[in-house]
Amino acid sequence: MNTVILGIESSCDDTSAAIIRDGEVLSNCVANQEAHRLYGGVVPEVASRAHQKNIIPVVDLAIKKAGIDKRQVDAIAFTRGPGLIGSLIVGVSFAKAYALSLGIPLIEVNHMEAHVLAHFAEPPRPAFPFLCLTVSGGHTQIVLVRGHLDMEVIGQTLDDAAGEAFDKTGKLLGLDYPAGPIIDRLAQKGRPVFDFPEPQIPGLDFSFSGLKTAILYFLQKQKQDDPDFIRNYMADICASVQSRIVSILINKISLAAEETGIREIAIAGGVSANSELRSALEKTGAEKGWNTYIPKFEYCTDNAAMIAITGYYKYLKGTFTSQEVEPVARWKVGG
Ligand code: KG4
Ligand code: ZN
Repeated sequence: MNTVILGIESSCDDTSAAIIRDGEVLSNCVANQEAHRLYGGVVPEVASRAHQKNIIPVVDLAIKKAGIDKRQVDAIAFTRGPGLIGSLIVGVSFAKAYALSLGIPLIEVNHMEAHVLAHFAEPPRPAFPFLCLTVSGGHTQIVLVRGHLDMEVIGQTLDDAAGEAFDKTGKLLGLDYPAGPIIDRLAQKGRPVFDFPEPQIPGLDFSFSGLKTAILYFLQKQKQDDPDFIRNYMADICASVQSRIVSILINKISLAAEETGIREIAIAGGVSANSELRSALEKTGAEKGWNTYIPKFEYCTDNAAMIAITGYYKYLKGTFTSQEVEPVARWKVGG
């Protein structure tokens, strides 16, 4: 069939473009924004300006790496939301202008649905229905996936996201942003000797704000006795925090598997790059007889291949978007 889709992602701080042909990834290019490290978090104004600078070179690179000509692109899939509005505007405006100049259709994509469909970038692909634990910097959800474009959120965080729990802990520990990968690395040298409480939230919902407060009080108390506590015990603190976040996530996805009877279990989103979560999912899956799906690192964090894949399934259904489209900061999965 030779259907070529250009995917564009600009919902947060990474600018990404990808080309896929008949569902196969030909290129997936990401420009990271290092600037936010200095501020301890993503600064929307800085992110928006960087997207503007990066978007044309990143799209050019994706086309070049795919070895195609831009006139071969059949449709442009772009992240419409959820995300930072100033960041989304850059990707949406670019996609509209580029589609207009090439005379091809536009396809809007929900960023969180795309994280789930990142599993279709490469085999092994989950069978329907499957459960996907989507854990990123802004979201923590358990999604029941009945089909490529048929998803329902059956559990979600009531406050902070799992990625935020990592990043906010990192801030308390004086680590750079985003702290998730740094805590992951430091935890490998430590042991989970400090016991942080598991929140008692009924059902399939999550809460991480209590954990953050518990860590804050714990550090304040320890620093009274030992002003160098953080420096002396950094690896053990990281291992303890990470182990609690992972146990919260694994316990909830286990409950979801039990309640639904589904044994096809996937993880997605930036936090699914976490080494302890990946090994804990594999271990629990082996014990419980699940088929587990863990994406390659490049498909865990924000990337345009997942946007293009989602666009491809919408293209096959003939679901296109008008030039009047505007970005949305909030957008429910399956909504
Ligand atoms: O999906 P993503 O790239 O962007 C959003 O849509 O939010 O996720 C970013 C989040 C950040 O909170 C970051 O700290 C976290 O993913 N993260 C990790 C790891 N790599 C990225 N958290 C824990 N361990 C990691 N290895
Ligand atoms: Zn994301």
